[in-house]
Amino acid sequence: MTQTPTNVASEDSYSLQAISTIVQEHQALWRILDLLDELQHDMNINEQQPDETLFNNIFDYVQHFARRVHSSPEEIVLYRVLGEKSPETKPLLDKLAHGYVIGDQKINELRHLLMVCMERWPDGREDFSHALARFTEALRKHIKKEEGVVIPRARKLLSEDDWHLIIESRDQANDPLFGERVRDEFRELRHRIVSYTPERLGGLGLHHAPRRTAQHATEEMLTIKGLKTSYGQIEALHGVDIRINSGEIVSLVGANGAGKSTLLMTISGLQPTDSGSITFEGKDLLKITTDQRVASGIVQVPEGRQVFKDLSVEDNLLLGAYTRGRSPEVEDDLERMYEKFPILRQKRRNLAGELSGGQQQMLAMGRALMAKPRLLLLDEPSMGLAPLIIEEIFNIVKELKNEGITIFLVEQNASQALALADRGYVLETGRVVIEGSGRELLSNEKVREAYLGM
Ligand SMILES: Nc1ncnc2c1ncn2[C@@H]1O[C@H](COP(=O)(O)OP(=O)(O)OP(=O)(O)O)[C@@H](O)[C@H]1O
Ligand SMILES: [Mg+2]
Repeated sequence: MTQTPTNVASEDSYSLQAISTIVQEHQALWRILDLLDELQHDMNINEQQPDETLFNNIFDYVQHFARRVHSSPEEIVLYRVLGEKSPETKPLLDKLAHGYVIGDQKINELRHLLMVCMERWPDGREDFSHALARFTEALRKHIKKEEGVVIPRARKLLSEDDWHLIIESRDQANDPLFGERVRDEFRELRHRIVSYTPERLGGLGLHHAPRRTAQHATEEMLTIKGLKTSYGQIEALHGVDIRINSGEIVSLVGANGAGKSTLLMTISGLQPTDSGSITFEGKDLLKITTDQRVASGIVQVPEGRQVFKDLSVEDNLLLGAYTRGRSPEVEDDLERMYEKFPILRQKRRNLAGELSGGQQQMLAMGRALMAKPRLLLLDEPSMGLAPLIIEEIFNIVKELKNEGITIFLVEQNASQALALADRGYVLETGRVVIEGSGRELLSNEKVREAYLGM
């Protein structure tokens, strides 16, 4: 790594200031390139599916620079001044400047290849990996040219006035190399990369839900077989079979009293099981308590919201994280909930009982999300709400799926619930009577007649 000499007499000279800025930026970028190598190694040698969020944050960082440079009228003052003084360097400078334009396009390609790789894993890995290797190589060459040719020539040919001009462009916040605002943006982007980088690779290891796409949602997450449960002498579920794959939205529809809520409560452990089995990611759920089920990622939003009406909105949210204790990570999640549901931030000090029905539903969902569910059980989230809010709730459900949360959605609002679902089940008096893809159920005669009123 290049070190800036500390024992130079003119240590405050403009040239030294400018050069050390460039070198620092290069070092930061070089470390990120090293990180990319490690991530690529994980993917190819350890067969680990890439962390899409982390990769995209890295791409944001690199692309940010490229965009700044080639979006005219901004330009790198150093390139311009050196090009004027040294015509023989001009072709190299033009090439380097052009590299930013190409780099920007290449990053877009990489984002696309990454997406394909995520969707078809492990197919698509090779294409992504090759493109990534070519990209990091090109960027390393670019840095070496700047350090090996551009900076030495500039050092020789540029006057302190030239360097002063370059340094001054720092105050014009937009200069792609020196602008203060630009550098703030870089700091923010770097912070995100460092946060998401696993600890074993030297990052902070911020936990985040990997984004999963429905295409590879073939892994069985929850399997219910022959489930029976009763209230006293009266059996409410008579041997229910249901399967939920990781990454899916599965909808359960059925009339009043069919046993939908009973089923959810049995999954949560709030209602005892008479016979049958429930396994979650291979684990026998019947052997563990409700709390342990929550801790392992199964979280229910009960029918009728059931928020704690005498507690503040914020305390309700924090209660959702009770299995996790109060930590900086929980504070971050609280912040994310406020970003997702801005109304809850506005009402954070209000009592939950003062909220409208729609607001309470948002709170109930926010509280459940604070427990970091991997399987979210939603019991009639649209009940009693206005159409505008119902639409909003279904949009949020879709968003949660995109964030990687698997969803079991119980609804009487069958048309919307099935339209959203990958698969669905119809429950009648404690039995599954129809199952299929969301689309199949929507066009099923019996479903149309009984549940869609057609
Ligand atoms: N706590 C209880 N004690 C006794 N019977 C109950 C209890 N809760 C529900 N049941 C009965 O179990 C059956 C299934 O009720 P459940 O609440 O699971 O239906 P549901 O499909 O959720 O209905 P809804 O659409 O009204 O919410 C019904 O016959 C109901 O009367
Ligand atoms: Mg119910």
